[in-house]
Amino acid sequence: MLIVSVVGARPNVMKLAPVERELARRPDVEHVVVHTGQHYDPEMSEAFFQDLWIPRPQHNLGVGSGTHAQQTAAVMLRIEPILQLVRPDVVVVYGDVNSTVAAALVAAKLGIRVAHVEAGLRSRDWSMPEEINRVLTDRIADLLFAPSPDAVQNLIAEGTPRERVHFVGNVMIDSLCWALPQARTLDTVTRHGVEGTPFVVVTLHRPATVDNPAALREMLDTLVALGEDCPVLFPVHPRTRERIHDTGFPAEGRGGLRLLDPMGYVEMLGLVASARLVLTDSGGLQEETSYLGVPCLTVRQNTERPITCQLGTNRLVAPQREVVLAAARQALEHPLAHRPVIERWDGKAAQRIAASLCDGARFDLDAPARSRAPETSTRRVSEPISAAELVPTETAA
Ligand code: UD1
Repeated sequence: MLIVSVVGARPNVMKLAPVERELARRPDVEHVVVHTGQHYDPEMSEAFFQDLWIPRPQHNLGVGSGTHAQQTAAVMLRIEPILQLVRPDVVVVYGDVNSTVAAALVAAKLGIRVAHVEAGLRSRDWSMPEEINRVLTDRIADLLFAPSPDAVQNLIAEGTPRERVHFVGNVMIDSLCWALPQARTLDTVTRHGVEGTPFVVVTLHRPATVDNPAALREMLDTLVALGEDCPVLFPVHPRTRERIHDTGFPAEGRGGLRLLDPMGYVEMLGLVASARLVLTDSGGLQEETSYLGVPCLTVRQNTERPITCQLGTNRLVAPQREVVLAAARQALEHPLAHRPVIERWDGKAAQRIAASLCDGARFDLDAPARSRAPETSTRRVSEPISAAELVPTETAA
């Protein structure tokens, strides 16, 4: 069986890695990875393949930055001849970036089956380019791998045939489980000089958060104020770095607020796992913090990952100084006692994906999400995550 995976942006690589590892164990499968080049700086791309110990992609389309139309069109034009040449049995796309929808569209029109990892998430906010990418990709995908019960229900409500939808769990958590032991040994906390002290980790990169200079300035002032309470570590995405530069804010930060270069996956995980609080507009961090039991404030009006608010540690906050400061101080003063457990966020999602892709296995949602009450599905934060949970087992659940 010949499978092509297409990735383009930083978070795609964390979703690819566990799938690549599972497919590599199958002698009858050839897995070809195509990188579109949507992200191209070494620390936004190459570093993640090294960190996650997966081979570098066989093809790089070198698409780079541009408007949405330019980027999407460039991926389409450059991937079509590769898919025509390789003629895979299935093309696997990940997440919700421009590369995802572009590759899915080309494959579907070539009559190649499309599988979407992280299908069914919906923010219902059509001003987000990612929402458009998600809905369009799911509409043309043949196999939809949903991370959570709400994602399954969204797809069914939109009329997706049930047999296409598989509740496989969350591949981001597979990568987290794989990398956490390494992350702990790196001792990132000591290297950043924040051992033994509560600290906050920040990431902000979405246009809605960083493209408006007045709003960005207010967020930076908020972070400076928070930095008076404890260290605030902010690895800065290249887009955000440019916008911050435009405001005239000091490149290295101010007071307790430290502006850092983008970090590798394992280093970042080491920091997040030990943080007292994460403040973000990222999708993946809402999930990672929920798994780790670290409080997360998401500076957005909505989330496509509502399960992280319902069962996890996530809370949406308006991007206003007083609102963010009040919520952050409350989280800093009242650490969580329990770590949530979310169904099928167990390090085995990629096993299920491989079983579905290669063996035709089915993974249904067999009970309404509401019946999965969280009362018994929490554990104390101080309880270690067991080795059985960290090391995915051989058999698909
Ligand atoms: C993209 C995704 C977003 C995802 C994010 C993860 C879309 C629509 N958006 O946003 O969903 O959360 O990736 O990081 O696909 N740049 C560099 N070096 C790079 C990459 C980007 O300097 O390696 C700068 C360029 O100025 C570029 C800007 O960042 O114009 C934006 O990059 P782009 O890929 O368009 O979107 P992201 O904001 O990274």
